[in-house]
Amino acid sequence: MYPDLQGKVAIITGAGRRKGLGEAMARRLAAEGCKVVLSDLGAAQGEQMPESAIGTRSELEQIAAEISSAGGEAHAAVCNVLQESDVAALVAAAVKQFGRLDIMVNNAGIGYLMRPIVATEQSNWDAVLGVNLRGVFLGIKHAAIQMIKQGQGGRIINVGSQASKSGFPFAAAYVSSKHGVVGLTRTAAIELGPHKINVNTICPNHITTGLGAWQNEYFSAATGRSQEQYLADMRARIPLGRPGLQDDIAKACAFLASDQATYITGEAMNVSGGEEYH
Ligand SMILES: NC(=O)c1ccc[n+]([C@@H]2O[C@H](COP(=O)([O-])OP(=O)(O)OC[C@H]3O[C@@H](n4cnc5c(N)ncnc54)[C@H](O)[C@@H]3O)[C@@H](O)[C@H]2O)c1
Repeated sequence: MYPDLQGKVAIITGAGRRKGLGEAMARRLAAEGCKVVLSDLGAAQGEQMPESAIGTRSELEQIAAEISSAGGEAHAAVCNVLQESDVAALVAAAVKQFGRLDIMVNNAGIGYLMRPIVATEQSNWDAVLGVNLRGVFLGIKHAAIQMIKQGQGGRIINVGSQASKSGFPFAAAYVSSKHGVVGLTRTAAIELGPHKINVNTICPNHITTGLGAWQNEYFSAATGRSQEQYLADMRARIPLGRPGLQDDIAKACAFLASDQATYITGEAMNVSGGEEYH
């Protein structure tokens, strides 16, 4: 669909969990002809994230292998986006494997640890802000260093949220981190524009990924509704009448990575069926 993406090299963080947005964006970019580096945490680190909530090394490698056996070019690399040395090594791995870096998708995020403010521990706050905001900062920084060195521009695509635009109860850390991603995107767009590096954020509404399924369970219980009622209420708020799909985000990602989006930067683009419009 976007011939200019053929042969471009893309990194996608948080791409090792099945049904996740990272997996969908990696598969879509590969289908467009990009050489993709999928990365994820690989194993739980610390108590804040259970093993069930993370993309394991074997899942990550399987997804990359499936892309390769379908005719794409994919490489898997473990990276904890909280660690600057890991992020720098991830960019270096992409360059070693495929010779350059054109597209950086900062998707890794955590939406667990949702609590009322009065019950939120400092460690919860730090964990969410760390991955969702510091992780995106480090991804922008190290992608930009490489892209500036190459001198041919590039695309940085961050994954924000509906929570980048609106407040939600029980989600202070998440909402703050995702609002922060928008400020970071705008600032990076200004700094990196002279290098022809476009920086944008995609703001999805609800999508039933592994994280999304957990959120359905958590928020329906927290608001005293059955999951069916919670989802029916959600559909009723969305002008297009359905929650988002992984593919909706993958399509937006491919568009922002393509030449069709050459003059778009600093945007926080809603992909929400009309639920968010500011
Ligand atoms: N699903 C939704 O409804 C929704 C809506 C809006 C925004 N988002 C955002 O989309 C992104 C992807 O979420 P998803 O729904 O696909 O969830 P997901 O849980 O399937 O994917 C998130 C991935 O991030 C990885 N990750 C977590 N901590 C990491 C770390 N320190 N280093 C590297 N990787 C790490 C996890 O292992 C996981 O594979 C997140 O940034 C999330 O906040 C999701």
